[in-house]
Amino acid sequence: MTSPDLPAELKAALNARLEGLSRNDAASRASVISQTYRDGGGSGTIKTETDALAYALARMPATYAAVVASLNALTEMRPDFAPKSLLDVGAGPGTASWAAAEVFPSLRDFTLLDANDALRTLALDLTRKSGRLRGLTYELGQARVFVAHADSADLVVASYMIGEIGDAERAALADAMWDRTNDTLLVIEPGTPAGYARIISLRARLIAAGAHVAAPCPHDGACPLVAPDWCHFSQRLQRSRAHKQIKGADAPFEDERFAYVVLTRAPMTARPSRVLAQPDVGKVEISAKLCTPDGVAIARVPRRAKADYARARRWRWGDAV
Ligand SMILES: C[S@@+](CC[C@H](N)C(=O)[O-])C[C@H]1O[C@@H](n2cnc3c(N)ncnc32)[C@H](O)[C@@H]1O
Repeated sequence: MTSPDLPAELKAALNARLEGLSRNDAASRASVISQTYRDGGGSGTIKTETDALAYALARMPATYAAVVASLNALTEMRPDFAPKSLLDVGAGPGTASWAAAEVFPSLRDFTLLDANDALRTLALDLTRKSGRLRGLTYELGQARVFVAHADSADLVVASYMIGEIGDAERAALADAMWDRTNDTLLVIEPGTPAGYARIISLRARLIAAGAHVAAPCPHDGACPLVAPDWCHFSQRLQRSRAHKQIKGADAPFEDERFAYVVLTRAPMTARPSRVLAQPDVGKVEISAKLCTPDGVAIARVPRRAKADYARARRWRWGDAV
């Protein structure tokens, strides 16, 4: 399993960019950008070099952690998957490409795309000294236009991106990304009901087009959760000093909530259940909410079933069991 914390090379590149930057300026830009996101806006407020860096310092550790968690879930289901090419759609500062490079040593060709020039410039700067990512291709333009003409890739990723475009554009982009996917498509969104709704609708659309779910669902059927419930996961990550300063936060860690789907061309053979919330460990039993191939179920594992109980004690929210 790959660590959810930023790799040393990326941390060093971000720290180098911090030299000479006013932390107060960066913190106030980061707070404007975050507020825009909370109000339902997108990354349109990221216009300058300082904005791009503020965004990367504030959000990259968390979106990186969510991408790694999703890719870890994929590799657990498909340990032999060894993609050679990556297409990172709405790549921003390059977060998903860094994560995929860490998880898949097999990756050779990295193509990134974004409409935001400030984020593209930052991504190119952060990867300048990277052994793996130096030499990547980073296109500037509208996702749907570019993806329609891009070379197909073994792994296509859209991380925290599809929420920034309208419904019709999103449906067309989903089709285009799937069309360019040789093997696997990963789409990640914030772990809110709205983020989940976007994932579920893309999932249904692409299953109808022939896709299969590798994670998190143990089936290709409709999601059995009923509103106000929604499927999402949580990844803990450590906060660096700069990260804490930018966010004006004291806690040494944060928990990123995210929703995701991994779609593959080939059907899955093994379909373990997925833990949908942190299990409740009681004196008499452990109870865990699971998504199973037959729907949502509460598993109750009594303490007297020693071996099962010991196994269930290790279950964590998001695990395949
Ligand atoms: C929230 S950021 C996520 C960046 C990165 N994928 C990550 O996980 O950190 C969303 C990105 O999508 C890009 N984006 C939004 N709409 C786009 C479009 N129509 N075409 C290309 N990029 C777009 C934005 O410029 C921004 O960089």
